[in-house]
Amino acid sequence: MGRQHACLCEWLFSCLRCTIVVPGKVQFLATHDGYALRMLVMKRTDTNNIEIGPPAHDAELKDFLRIVSQALFFPNANLNEWVRREGKENVRVARRSGRVVGGLIVQKMGQWFGGASVPMAAVRVVGVAPEHRGSGVASRLMRAALDEMHGDRVPLSMLFPATQPVYRRAGYEQAGVRLRYRMPAAAIDLHDRSLSIRPIGPGDDGDVHRLYAGRASQTAGNLDRNDWAWQRLLDPPPWQTPIHGYLVQRESAAEGYILFSQKPGHPLHKNVIEVADLVAGTADAARQLLTFLADHRSMAEWIHWCGPPVDPLCFTLAEQQATITERIDWMLRIVDVCGALESRGYPAALQAELHLEIADDLLAHNHRRFVLEVAGGAGRVREGGRGDLHVDIRGLAAMYTGHLSAIDLKRTGYVEGSDAVLAIAAYIFAGPAPWTPDLF
Ligand SMILES: CC(C)(COP(=O)(O)OP(=O)(O)OC[C@H]1O[C@@H](n2cnc3c(N)ncnc32)[C@H](O)[C@@H]1OP(=O)(O)O)[C@@H](O)C(=O)NCCC(=O)NCCS
Repeated sequence: MGRQHACLCEWLFSCLRCTIVVPGKVQFLATHDGYALRMLVMKRTDTNNIEIGPPAHDAELKDFLRIVSQALFFPNANLNEWVRREGKENVRVARRSGRVVGGLIVQKMGQWFGGASVPMAAVRVVGVAPEHRGSGVASRLMRAALDEMHGDRVPLSMLFPATQPVYRRAGYEQAGVRLRYRMPAAAIDLHDRSLSIRPIGPGDDGDVHRLYAGRASQTAGNLDRNDWAWQRLLDPPPWQTPIHGYLVQRESAAEGYILFSQKPGHPLHKNVIEVADLVAGTADAARQLLTFLADHRSMAEWIHWCGPPVDPLCFTLAEQQATITERIDWMLRIVDVCGALESRGYPAALQAELHLEIADDLLAHNHRRFVLEVAGGAGRVREGGRGDLHVDIRGLAAMYTGHLSAIDLKRTGYVEGSDAVLAIAAYIFAGPAPWTPDLF
């Protein structure tokens, strides 16, 4: 189609959009030569009367809880207890014409990349009243949350999507996995009791946190849990299944732990052990924890747990009996390119320079050229440079965590650059496959 024709069609198209399209109706518009067929879905887009902010009073909090309980199929939670745990200050509500119509919660913590904990805002409990869906409420909530994160100098944001388009529109992209494994308890062929194991007590939090940080810091994507994240594991609310915790010790030194709940099955012996968190700091601790799980085999048919894409725990077993039964890819948003690149760690032996040109149609401070210099395991960023590697902000999220290499991302259309530049980017962001056992 010639340039003149294209301009004419665009002009005609914009006139028609103003005059003919009726909110709520689907309209088809074909250009004169049939080159383009465009579909418009006009919705109630009165986003100007949406206002975002913290709940002004308890009645608004109550409205938010009612909306998200319905939206997310939550069981009835005790409002006071729920607010105490979540923190009222972490809730943001959307009001339309003064009434709460949706909201979300942001929990600030960190996420491990390259041996460094990068400040991260976890977005959760996103819900909009059904009668207000599809009219831009969630998009406005996400935009306001991103602006706030940037103001608070939090360079990353992560979430588990129930649906992707609304988050992709806000610049999030798939960047790591949560994998759930399943194995018959009877398939564990270990009987190693060389270390001791005992119930976790009130004074053991320090050991549990230390063991977790030891493992998490050597992965990509594990959370640097805040108090909220630890509390929901170690002390779940009364409306959730109770958690049992055990610590593995060599004399008085802790080497591993397990947190799990027991899910009743039918008939009785088909019960399930749901492992919420498990860290084996040593090979002996791994064998002790597997033996401990096998000791449940008379009443529990299955063991469920979450692990990395290749789980070292399975290496210890005689046969390949573990299967992955669930997978959800979490999404990441690079809120601040400069802060995100400088806060993470890099391979210590690598010295490299990468000239990036980032496209971010939402956050203008990211939409520019940057030079990343990597040396001694750290990254330094300055603005400018040649822009050798063109990256969409969503492609950068997947590349940053090591979920997809620059070479793979070129095939998705998120990245453009010469083979030599793609190879440099692939080395810089290479590392363990990003995963996390937490789900929020
Ligand atoms: C998903 C949800 C939060 C979207 O809120 P919303 O205010 O309707 O979203 P927006 O109007 O800003 O729409 C943005 C995009 O989200 C998607 N979307 C909208 N409603 C959706 C729905 N009910 N289900 C799935 N996706 C939806 C659409 O792709 C939309 O893009 P479009 O305008 O091109 O069609 C809302 O539908 C909801 O509360 N659903 C139930 C709870 C839920 O799934 N929460 C997400 C937990 S991660």
